[in-house]
Amino acid sequence: SSIHQFLHELPKCEHHLHIEGSLSPNLLFRLASVNKVSLPDPSSDPSFESPEALTSRYERFTSLDDFLHYYFIGMSVLITASDFESLAYEYFARAHADGVQHAEVFFDPQAHTQRGIAYTTVVSGLTAAQKRAEKDFGITSKFILCFLRHLSATDAEVTYQEAVALGHFSDGTIAGIGLDSSEVGFPPEIFREIYASAKQAGIRRTAHAGEEGDASYVQRSLDICHTERIDHGIRLVEDEALVKRIAKDRTLITMCPLSNVRLRCVSKVADLPIRRFLDEGVRFSINSDDPAYFGGYILDNYCAVQEAFGLSIKEWKYIADGAIEGSWCDDERKKVLL
Ligand code: ADE
Ligand code: ZN
Repeated sequence: SSIHQFLHELPKCEHHLHIEGSLSPNLLFRLASVNKVSLPDPSSDPSFESPEALTSRYERFTSLDDFLHYYFIGMSVLITASDFESLAYEYFARAHADGVQHAEVFFDPQAHTQRGIAYTTVVSGLTAAQKRAEKDFGITSKFILCFLRHLSATDAEVTYQEAVALGHFSDGTIAGIGLDSSEVGFPPEIFREIYASAKQAGIRRTAHAGEEGDASYVQRSLDICHTERIDHGIRLVEDEALVKRIAKDRTLITMCPLSNVRLRCVSKVADLPIRRFLDEGVRFSINSDDPAYFGGYILDNYCAVQEAFGLSIKEWKYIADGAIEGSWCDDERKKVLL
């Protein structure tokens, strides 16, 4: 349809994409075989019988933690820098095909260093893909280093210091920090020192908040960790004063509609607070989160929102402009995108 064509052609920015979440079941099985990584025995979990069985298991996640179980097993097949490069290049190619002009990509270094893969292996693969994708597709990108909140603050600090020591924040290899994995019971204040030090050093800051956790997780991310952005943030609507504050400060909320449905944060896309955000002037972008796990890339998410809300061209332009303004690229690049 013409609105689909319009959404396809609309210049898009993606701000909430975990590169490890773009690992398809097919590539997962292929890399497990090439790298001789053993997957769980199908007799204990039949989902590991085949890529098809795994794909259908992904349609039945019961919660964030249920998904994370599969997400961490999946990424265990990534071993070499070339594995990370292929994964990221495939994502950039797919995002480009969906009309993404600029992408800000999360990665979870601790999930790799914990199983003996060097931080530098991960980053060299990702940056090789980034350069190749910019040359081949004109897509610009940034990397955001996420800390796993189910691990300790000390563990996060070790990872942070490794990136600092390599000069990765000052040379632009990594644009900012984020916080992901299990939310409830792992509040943002656990990581307050790292966020304070990042702020001091002029490093960009975001955090997943208000996905499964209540609005106080959003408020504490802002007040205690001084995040400039909120990832998911859907439960912030439970606090009216917080909605007003976020609108006033133009804090970008990076929403992930298909993810929220798959992880049962909402029962359908129409239950997301998109209308409320538009009416109250909250800036947000629409993103895919973990597209290989949640049944769709960014354009599928845009289309799902259109199906549920029937937005006008003017509203879509407002959303797309907000996504550009909320991006962490320089003003020159923003001018080209706007
Ligand atoms: N890691 C990957 N996807 C995530 C999500 N949606 N929430 C928290 N951690 C994640
Ligand atoms: Zn996420």
